[in-house]
Amino acid sequence: MRLSTGEIVAAAAAAGRGAGAFNVITLEHAEAIVAGAERVDRPVILQLSENAVGFHLGRVRPIAAALSEIATAARVPVSLHLDHVADESLLHQTADAGFSSVMFDASTRPYQENVAATRAAAGWAHERGLWLEAELGEVGGKDGAHAPGVRTDPRQAESYVAATGVDALAVAVGSSHAMTTREAALDLDLIAQLRKTVPVPLVLHGSSGVPDERLRGAIAHGMVKVNFGTALNLAYTGAVRDVLAGPTPPVDPRKYLQAARDAVADVVAHLLTVLDKAAG
Ligand code: G3H
Ligand code: ZN
Repeated sequence: MRLSTGEIVAAAAAAGRGAGAFNVITLEHAEAIVAGAERVDRPVILQLSENAVGFHLGRVRPIAAALSEIATAARVPVSLHLDHVADESLLHQTADAGFSSVMFDASTRPYQENVAATRAAAGWAHERGLWLEAELGEVGGKDGAHAPGVRTDPRQAESYVAATGVDALAVAVGSSHAMTTREAALDLDLIAQLRKTVPVPLVLHGSSGVPDERLRGAIAHGMVKVNFGTALNLAYTGAVRDVLAGPTPPVDPRKYLQAARDAVADVVAHLLTVLDKAAG
């Protein structure tokens, strides 16, 4: 069933839970994410990044249409989110392609430029009933990572949200994109400070590199939307590799894509339970 990202995030924030958001590259990712969410009966956000749109030959509509159908047929609430959009022309395709939300990423621009571009993006989004996430922190580009030493300043974050009118804020608190090991050390005190100064839900990017216990700590300290991508790809590619390394490597791609889909569903089901409200 369809829900908006704003509704899923607001419900999670009210309940003290995390809202899991997972990056889609192929159709099998989306099917697996929903299967994992259905298995543990949790809402889920399907994210398509600007980079993934590039992989799909720069066309957002075919994959977005497939995601819409998968979301509508799901037995749990599912929203569609366009992620890490730096290109305004792609942003402007959000509204009529089935997405209820977008992350507009001007984080690599100087502060005042980030504010001006994000304020314009938020105004555009709100006129169309879309929920807009933005990012503040000296972070690398879409292909890069939150530089490990960089942190979002709580006072600047407060001013940034007031100046831009965004609905959620991605912050640099110690995680890095594309980590294939889970050893990121999050600054939980900083998350707690940001929670006090920032009046909108906080978003953790690069969550694949964060161990389960630190994810629970992040949520207990005020993080709400939690984005995963690489963890799914590790499972997906590992499963394909295992099947193809077997004694009779198949030719039919369904044989290895089925294994990939099952492996991704297992990871999603696990991570969604990690995001539950911490006991006590
Ligand atoms: O926006 C997407 C997330 O930040 C994914 O990061 O691939 O490191 O989990 P990750
Ligand atoms: Zn990200």
